[in-house]
Amino acid sequence: MKCPKADSPPKGRILIVEDERSLAHACRSILEEHGHHAEFCLTGREGRALLRRGDFDVVLLDLRLGDMDGMEILEEARRQNLRVCIVIMTAFSTVQNAVKAMKLGAFDYLTKPFTDDELILCVQRAVEKKRLVEENLRLKKELVDRYGFSNIVGENPKILEVFRQIEKVAPTDCTVLIHGEHGTGKELVARAIHAHSRRASQKFIAIDCSTLSPTLLESELFGHVKGAFTGATQDKPGIFQVASKGTLFLDDIANLNLETQGKLLRVLETREYKPVGSSSFRTTEARVISATNKDLRTLAAQGSFREDLYYRLNVFPIFLPPLRERKDDIPRLAYHFLRHFCRKTSKRIDGFTEDALEALVNHPWPGNVRQLKNAVERLVIMTDTPMVDLLTLLDHLETRRRWGSDPIPRTIQELRDFKKRLLIDHYERMEKLFLLKALEDQGGNISKAAQAVGMKRPNFSALMKRHGIPSPSRKRPAV
Ligand SMILES: Nc1ncnc2c1ncn2[C@@H]1O[C@H](COP(=O)(O)OP(=O)(O)OP(=O)(O)O)[C@@H](O)[C@H]1O
Ligand SMILES: [Mg+2]
Repeated sequence: MKCPKADSPPKGRILIVEDERSLAHACRSILEEHGHHAEFCLTGREGRALLRRGDFDVVLLDLRLGDMDGMEILEEARRQNLRVCIVIMTAFSTVQNAVKAMKLGAFDYLTKPFTDDELILCVQRAVEKKRLVEENLRLKKELVDRYGFSNIVGENPKILEVFRQIEKVAPTDCTVLIHGEHGTGKELVARAIHAHSRRASQKFIAIDCSTLSPTLLESELFGHVKGAFTGATQDKPGIFQVASKGTLFLDDIANLNLETQGKLLRVLETREYKPVGSSSFRTTEARVISATNKDLRTLAAQGSFREDLYYRLNVFPIFLPPLRERKDDIPRLAYHFLRHFCRKTSKRIDGFTEDALEALVNHPWPGNVRQLKNAVERLVIMTDTPMVDLLTLLDHLETRRRWGSDPIPRTIQELRDFKKRLLIDHYERMEKLFLLKALEDQGGNISKAAQAVGMKRPNFSALMKRHGIPSPSRKRPAV
């Protein structure tokens, strides 16, 4: 018995357009014997109609058909961009004919009479070529997808809605305002809009309006001329010029002062601006995407943000939910970052233990996805076991209050409250670690752990419950 070859050549759908019935028949039989699906027709007109159906990989096309010239069919297939490999069959093979057919996009040609082997070999190569073309198209599409959305992880309905909005707005030149707390992925979304727009091959420039002083920001945005201010020793183009054909991302837009807001409004309405110190206007075609974590409408009502600019920026609003409102995405994001940082550090970590993942999901993540990403990066550095476990996680999660975020107490009572909070924060964390360590040392046996630390079992259990530590017994391997 013949064993099938492991990598047997791909089989195709073949159309034979040949007015000589016996030859058409013979070709079909040989091709089918070799596992291809083959059909034939005897006229050019019929061949053309079948070709338009578009479900063939290869067409064997006679040049001299009774009712028309095969070249016409070849030309039409090229005009319509049909994805099919055409092989010319002719008894009148001349160099000119062959050259003309190849120029018109034929894949190959067979000179009549041909042997069975010649036919099979030629068709096989054509089928393989067609597969390669298709594979390439698929990979290219995948690449576009990758640059687009697949780096934005999420399947929560709110994020899926954001994907739909990105798809809708990207091809337009519409101004977009992205709303969302710190670290929710506003810049990521802005980049995805750019990547899906006609401007994708042009520049994407991001500028953080909260980190620059008003004068510096203006000169960054609009550029300046030599001598505009001390230190301006030469002309400098602004990013409205540099990103003129691309996209300009203005992060933390609420931080613009009223004067710069006025200038920005002018650019958005007239496409004109003046570099600092210049008396003449320049024009720009840059698309503006901005982002904010503040409620601009409230700021407008309070008078610190121009209402007209707010409406001009907010033509197409996109709202990014905080991570705590899409907890179902946390495991997905955590694994995404785990893979990313393992690849970066050439480390192998197989995943998170069940309770570690649960702790990640239940963490409040005030710094949203950025905070989760940073936490996973630290965990990858610190973990030396095959899995990230709860103990390592609690050790490295930012459970401690950040000193910088606390306002300086103004009264003795505020100072006392601060001390109390600090103690609670540290104490609670240490208490949990104490329980986990005791359990770990005793192989998860609660009674032994309680005894080892000098506690009664019920008290130890109650404390475990208060800290949300699941009973380790259910994870003990079966014997
Ligand atoms: N859905 C997501 N999938 C994968 N990575 C994400 C996602 N959302 C955010 N990130 C990552 O989290 C980090 C913060 O995202 P980004 O800078 O876009 O947030 P932001 O909203 O602009 O923050 P800020 O308000 O502080 O400027 C980035 O490293 C980004 O790649
Ligand atoms: Mg940002």
